[in-house]
This record gives sequence, structure tokens and C-alpha cells, in this order.
Amino acid sequence: MKNIVILISGRGSNMEALIAARDAGTLPVNIAAVISNRPEALGLETAQRAGIAAHFIDHKGFESREAFDAALAECIDQFAPDLVVLAGFMRILTPGFVRRYEGRLLNIHPSLLPSFPGLHTHQRALDEGVRIHGCTVHFVTAELDHGPVVIQAAVPVIDGDDEASLAARILVQEHRIYPQAVRWFAEDRLQLVDGKVRIAAALDAERAFISPELR
Ligand code: GRF
Repeated sequence: MKNIVILISGRGSNMEALIAARDAGTLPVNIAAVISNRPEALGLETAQRAGIAAHFIDHKGFESREAFDAALAECIDQFAPDLVVLAGFMRILTPGFVRRYEGRLLNIHPSLLPSFPGLHTHQRALDEGVRIHGCTVHFVTAELDHGPVVIQAAVPVIDGDDEASLAARILVQEHRIYPQAVRWFAEDRLQLVDGKVRIAAALDAERAFISPELR
């Protein structure tokens, strides 16, 4: 069974979805540790309650991104993960860190990338008046919120939506697609080869989830 380490910064609901899938027997991984860059991250308590090793490395104690990333990598490597899962981890990672975990570093982003990289995606989507919004699981590259797409889910933007209602609609999908992507990796059905996603052909249709309201 593959070992994963989950990195968080806050609430940790995506982490919880991964723990729930593991507990339900649909995600065959060992969650070796959860690490936060913020000591006050609520998700740390949730991880502890689930019996998972929970650590924090406060980025504020480091003089440079490189120094923080080196400490983070040292902590991660103690657990010898096959995969590092960024689940609401709100730090820009250095190219060196990204290279170290190339092909075994996944992120979830709350937009249909390459639209709306960065922060405040839901408000920006509302401001732009887009009618379709969503979330993306991708392999991480040195470019922020970029990188080969594994799976996306699309939902409608509905008249009267505000940031909170749109975020909630998308979070439901985040909690569906992230465990799915991690499961594919755990089952050796998903790989990064020469910078491209290689995935079992049988899974193609499952890589794009279109909410029923959009069909
Ligand atoms: C999610 O919307 C995720 O896509 C984004 O940050 C949020 C984290 O939420 N990167 P949670 O901590 O998983 O609840």
C-alpha cells in the first residue's frame, strides 16, 4: 500500500475527505502524516483525532522560502511518502521543492485551470460573469496553480450566487475528485510521464465531471 503525506494550512476539509475515503475502504493508502505550515490550522486537530501523526512547521520562523521548504522536505521525507498531497496548502513552493517531488506531488485548486490561478477564485469568477466554474486536481509544477490536469469538475454559476454559495457548490466536488485522483495514483493507474498525465484509458470519461445541472 502506498504511503501519502498530506499538507494543509487551515480547515482541512479536503484532508477529511481523504481520511473518510480511506476509512470507507475506497482509498487504499496509508496516510502517514499531516503537516501544516500554520500551527493554528484546524485540520491538525482533526488529523490527530483520526490517529494520524500531525506536525506543524511554522513558515514564519524561516528567513527564506528555501529554508522553509528544506525543513518541510526533511519532515516529509521521514515518512517516505510515495505521494505528497497538497490539500489547501497556502504556500508558494520553491522550484527545488517541486523538483524533489516531481511526479508525486498533487494539488487541488478551486477553479477550472488554467482560468483563475491564485487566490479568491470564486469572487473573481463572479466578477468575470462566467457561467461555469469548478475545480481541478493537477500535478504540481514550478508555476503556481499550473501543471498537468488529472481531473476536473464543472458546476454552474447560478444567478444570485455569492462567494460563499459558489465555494460550497464547488467544495462538494473537490471532496469527490480529490480522493478519486489519489485512488488512481494509489492503484498505479495514474502517473506523470515526461511532464504529461498518463492514465488508464478506461478512466478517461471519469476525468471530467459535469454537474447534472449543466447537461
Ligand atoms: C479548497 O478550496 C482548496 O481547493 C483550496 O483551498 C481550500 C482548502 O479547503 N486550495 P480545506 O482546507 O481543504 O477545507
